[in-house]
Amino acid sequence: MGLRLSRVIGHRGVAATAPENTLTGFRLAAEAGFSWVEFDVMLSADEVPMLHHDEKLGRTNDGRGRFCAQDAEALGRLDAGAWFAPDFAGERIPSFADAIACCRALGLAMNVEIKPAKGHAIRTAEVVSETLNALCPDLTDRIVVSSFERECLEVAKEKAPDFHRGYLCERLADGWRQAAEDLGCVSVHPNHRPLTEAAVAAIRDAGFRTLTYTVNDPLRAATLIAWGVDAVITDEPSLVAALA
Ligand code: G3P
Ligand code: MG
Repeated sequence: MGLRLSRVIGHRGVAATAPENTLTGFRLAAEAGFSWVEFDVMLSADEVPMLHHDEKLGRTNDGRGRFCAQDAEALGRLDAGAWFAPDFAGERIPSFADAIACCRALGLAMNVEIKPAKGHAIRTAEVVSETLNALCPDLTDRIVVSSFERECLEVAKEKAPDFHRGYLCERLADGWRQAAEDLGCVSVHPNHRPLTEAAVAAIRDAGFRTLTYTVNDPLRAATLIAWGVDAVITDEPSLVAALA
């Protein structure tokens, strides 16, 4: 089934107003009017897929060391909210399964970014694929799986073929079209900063949708949409109304 996109996608939940990659972030994204959210999935040491952006702990929680060196139980005890604001103290790092259940309950569609720690690309993509197959067989039109790591998209193509894939990149490098085609992607997700109108046209002419990140300025967002971008991934809840 085709991908049912909206024009705005909440980045890491709604990162301007809630701690990133948390269930409260998803709740606040839904309250702000988002119907899609993006989030990052990384494996714990005991191979539980959990939501986290950085390879290192500490920026978005009170942990230390490498994320992938700790078991899910220890990661789940960290405070993932107090760093953002005192009101969010006690927020936890959710598992991917918890995030899926939360988004499902809130009616949020998901851009699942596979974010492997170095050396863990294949296993992370395998576990994400297994989880999607087990928990989301009814949501294939409401999920797009993306990654900067080509290996992850190869594994997703093989292990979770029913789910749409997005070719995530900084800029359109040589060979992007062939790579996105080979990986069976439906969309290309470039950084908006180097993006040009001609690049957006090239993506469209090649038959892909364009999702671009991370767009927080409403004027820039309007320009990108006018160029033909399908969706902007944003931290800012005000973009929901601005692009309505
Ligand atoms: O998926 C879009 C965007 O999230 C990619 O960059 O570093 O925010 O995960 P990053
Ligand atoms: Mg991301």
